[in-house]
Amino acid sequence: MDFVTNQEVIQAARKILNQDIWDYLSGGAESETTMRRNRMGFDYLALRPRICVDVSKIDTSTMFLGKKLRIPVMLAPMGSLQSITPEGGVAVAKAAAQFGSINFVSSVTQPTLEEIAASTNGPKIFQLYIRGGLDWCKEQVDRALKAGYMALCLTVDTAHYSRRERQMMNRWLPPSKRVETNTRIYQAMLTWELMAAIRKHAGIPLILKGVATAEDAKIAVDHGVEVIYISNHGGRQLDHGRGTIDIVPEVVEAVKGKADVVLDGGVTRGTDVLKALALGCKAVTIGKLQGWGLAAGADAGVVRVLEILEEELTIDMGLLGVTNVSQINASHVCQSYPVSFPHEMSAFPYMPGGQLR
Ligand code: LAC
Repeated sequence: MDFVTNQEVIQAARKILNQDIWDYLSGGAESETTMRRNRMGFDYLALRPRICVDVSKIDTSTMFLGKKLRIPVMLAPMGSLQSITPEGGVAVAKAAAQFGSINFVSSVTQPTLEEIAASTNGPKIFQLYIRGGLDWCKEQVDRALKAGYMALCLTVDTAHYSRRERQMMNRWLPPSKRVETNTRIYQAMLTWELMAAIRKHAGIPLILKGVATAEDAKIAVDHGVEVIYISNHGGRQLDHGRGTIDIVPEVVEAVKGKADVVLDGGVTRGTDVLKALALGCKAVTIGKLQGWGLAAGADAGVVRVLEILEEELTIDMGLLGVTNVSQINASHVCQSYPVSFPHEMSAFPYMPGGQLR
């Protein structure tokens, strides 16, 4: 694919997707304040480069749960991917395997977790929404274990489905919502006790996605959770929450190295990855940018998105004065101020916020 920037990818996706899918993918909950804070949080951080370091050789790779990542960027779980491209989750799995990343397979995307697992030999993580009691959860986990998933991701910020007003005003629902029965009540009943019972049954690393405070990060690590995934669902769930990058310092402090910390929310640039790592994240994941790449070119589009992030990251690391990710630390970032009004496309100067409608 000949995209040279990710804003070209997004512009292509904008032309290809119909309004319903564009709004589903690109929108947030209610006033979309949380969504904009995801971007603004990065905009309020500046990088502190060091000079006169030999940066002729840059290694962007890292390890996550024992697997190598070509760059510290993974593919977030996304529902209804089949609405964006016919192959749905298989296309994302192919991109992750081809590029050298890890994809989170959403339990509300098509095709089945077994078909997606079988589509590549690449490492995959299974994301589960709670749609039944403990026995039902154990059955889903057993399916994922049998299919060879390396870790289990429980999403915990969707006790209630938010008011996504773009899709409401389109009178449109994603496929995952159209087929939903009243089983969502089980998601609302998720407790630490159930989380612990699911983790015990799984026996593989547990990633808790949707943590938004130090208090809950501490409870999670006290339960042995291996990865704290700071997320606000891309601003698609609770409105008027904090941007995820702003939550990182208190969570990193709370977990005290007992768990890895990852985040999603507003990640669209190599510099965003650097800022997240500098604050203590092990890696980040991309949701919207993954979906825009999928729309623009299916698996090849997602690979191109990751290649562009890799190109940005390589240059950004060199200019920061680091040659590998282990050298990145808190001294490489500081508070600063944004240079544009809070909008979700602030990373792309040629795509003012208005492009999102
Ligand atoms: C969403 C759910 C499927 O954000 O994660 O649409």
